[in-house]
Amino acid sequence: MADNKIYVFDTTLRDGEQVPGCQLNTIEKIEVAKMLEQLGVDVIEAGFPVSSPGDFNSVVEISKAVTNPTICALTRAVEKDIEVAAEALKYAKHKRIHTGIGTSDSHIKYKFKSNREEIIERAVKAVKFARRFVDDVEFYAEDAGRTDNEYLARVVEAVIKAGATVVNIPDTTGYCLPAEYGAKIKYLIDHVDGVENAILSTHCHNDLGMATANTMSGLINGARQCEVTINGIGERAGNTSLEEIAMILKCHNDIDLYSDINTPMIYPASRMVSSLMNMPVQANKAIVGRNAFAHSSGIHQDGVLKNVTTYEIIDPKDVGIKESEIILTARSGRAALKHRLEVIGYKATTEELDELYARFLNMADAKKEINDNDLRLLINDNVKSSNAIKLEYLHVSTGSFPESMAAVRLNIGGKQKTATASGNGPVDAAFNAIREVVEKEDMRLEEFLVQAITRGSNDNGKVHVKVSYNDKIYYGFGANVNIVNASAEAFVDAINKIV
Ligand code: KIV
Ligand code: ZN
Repeated sequence: MADNKIYVFDTTLRDGEQVPGCQLNTIEKIEVAKMLEQLGVDVIEAGFPVSSPGDFNSVVEISKAVTNPTICALTRAVEKDIEVAAEALKYAKHKRIHTGIGTSDSHIKYKFKSNREEIIERAVKAVKFARRFVDDVEFYAEDAGRTDNEYLARVVEAVIKAGATVVNIPDTTGYCLPAEYGAKIKYLIDHVDGVENAILSTHCHNDLGMATANTMSGLINGARQCEVTINGIGERAGNTSLEEIAMILKCHNDIDLYSDINTPMIYPASRMVSSLMNMPVQANKAIVGRNAFAHSSGIHQDGVLKNVTTYEIIDPKDVGIKESEIILTARSGRAALKHRLEVIGYKATTEELDELYARFLNMADAKKEINDNDLRLLINDNVKSSNAIKLEYLHVSTGSFPESMAAVRLNIGGKQKTATASGNGPVDAAFNAIREVVEKEDMRLEEFLVQAITRGSNDNGKVHVKVSYNDKIYYGFGANVNIVNASAEAFVDAINKIV
């Protein structure tokens, strides 16, 4: 094993998927897992099997669908969790159980009402138990960022002796400073007996915007695995983003570390995750943001035209961004659509392509040019076409009257139902009519977010809604050139999640 290879452990489907509103179904998770395989990640954390039958099933199906990376399943330091994880990993060619427990004084006192010695015993027991099922066991010392180094070293030493092959040092709350986190890794390397028998792993959260800096500091100081997510999604402010670490390693020859990430797949992977999870990437996000390779000021444009290296440290092609874009219109054929879909990372079957092409023509009629964002919406719509409740018809009248009126027809499991309702605006009237059809009067709209995708009055608008029903929260998404239709689609999407 080369000493300077950094193993990339992707947790988009576990830590990333914990974000409210980002949940994926099993089919979508398999798509992401296959994309991660193409991207060249070493480990895919596929879920937390004991947490729900859905998570269990996703780990099973990903284990069947993906062969090169190690498939990892998360557990607490609890025997039942470990047994369930081992069962879920049954079909994985390379498998790893990721077990662990909180080690900071705050976790020991408040979460476990325990003491330091007992926590070490539980950690050792969990690792030994997991080793009965798999050869590859990773241990996480939750909140290691706030755990004192001397005690952390004792925990790490004990779990390595018990058989842990990887030890994860999470900065769970994103508290550490880069120098402090790097020093923690160095302390472990200098003070843990047998540390050479395991790989130390970084797992940094971004609460103070330091996740990438902390991860790099950990790697420079001797950690050889980094835990990351696509686009940096994850709990609260997110995790370290895969694309940032991969490109830092590629650009900085001076630090002599490398990963096996196939960097031209970064952009397609980023778009796929953003689109499937309905999680827009901020325009100025490093590496994958819309503006990451856009030069807007006159001085920069002038420099770049003279020599691109004046303002660009990364060749866009290295992350999968092509300089030229094919503009699709209603006159484009299936082949052009298929090609463009592949460029953005979506391989459509012949059947899917037929459906997408029909939707594409409708959209192209309403909107002159179809860009990549529009295509992602089409893909999203295709996924949604299996929903039980579909919006078939919507008519809204509005004007100078005090109230707007809406008539809707929904198709609910094959049966058509209609209703009319009034409201204080077209969207309110449409929502009231939909509420009446589905007979869910208690459903409340908590948030309503409208976003134009690119520019121009004929552009698609995206609507995100947050709806509460029976004390639970549901999210919906819709996109359409007509913003009232997009709103109604988002509302119906949320209702599909309720039913
Ligand atoms: O942030 C964290 O501590 C985690 C562990 C469960 C690995 O996600
Ligand atoms: Zn985490």
